[in-house]
Amino acid sequence: MAANASTTKIAQRASSTGSFLLKWATRAAIAFVLYLTCSFIDDIKDRWYVFTPESLHQLAQAAVRAHPGDINAMIPYIVSNLTAEYSPSVIALNLNSSEWVLSNAGGAMGGMYIIHASITEYLIIFGTPLGTEGHTGVHPADDYFNILVGEQWAFEPPKLEREVYRPGDVHFTPRGRVKQYKMHEGCFALEYARGWIPLMLPFGFADVFSSTLDWWSFYHTVLITARENIRNLLIGKI
Ligand SMILES: *[C@@H]1O[C@H](CO)[C@@H](O)[C@H](O)[C@H]1NC(C)=O
Ligand SMILES: *[C@@H]1O[C@H](CO)[C@@H](O)[C@H](O)[C@H]1NC(C)=O
Repeated sequence: MAANASTTKIAQRASSTGSFLLKWATRAAIAFVLYLTCSFIDDIKDRWYVFTPESLHQLAQAAVRAHPGDINAMIPYIVSNLTAEYSPSVIALNLNSSEWVLSNAGGAMGGMYIIHASITEYLIIFGTPLGTEGHTGVHPADDYFNILVGEQWAFEPPKLEREVYRPGDVHFTPRGRVKQYKMHEGCFALEYARGWIPLMLPFGFADVFSSTLDWWSFYHTVLITARENIRNLLIGKI
């Protein structure tokens, strides 16, 4: 009887070890497949890119040359160039340049006009007449910050000298890299990001929940972003 009970116990232990191993083997397999899927999707994301960092940099420089120091004139210049260059069947653009929202992220605050928003790219005018400073955020996307007016500084330790960006310069932050940045009074930029844009949104919205409670700006930012994403999806632009 006693021998029998201990055999049963051993058998139970063996089978629970077996099911434990099976459970973890299954989880490892799922994680591996997920990893393969994500890295595959990551590898092919560039097939949905419409803009190029180089052409946007040229456009920003042309805007700076055409209307030095005048952000109010540069914005229509940029938007009309984009509408002439890109057919509405290739990319959806938001032409309403009165549609500004306030943005708080990484401790910095400014206004933005969303020109384009899809799953793999966004293009905005970002800036403030007051100046601001903060953390770039950790992003799964490459960021090209084309200065239109004013000046931006950046700090990336261990390099202890500041980086300085002026009108016509592009401040490039590759994905995963983090810096401290400061935009001086009256600094505006054409910001282009490419990568996995939805994964950037938590950084863009965290301050609303933890600090500003500015639901009006949150609501309009979500509304414009969703609307522009849908307009792009409808023409097959991801
Ligand atoms: C848009 O701007 C770029 C860069 O300056 C320029 O090469 C291109 O010709 C412009 N396109 C139009 C339609 O104005
Ligand atoms: C443009 O955006 C502003 C601000 O949101 C809005 O008041 C206006 O009605 C919009 N214009 C058009 C044509 O949609």
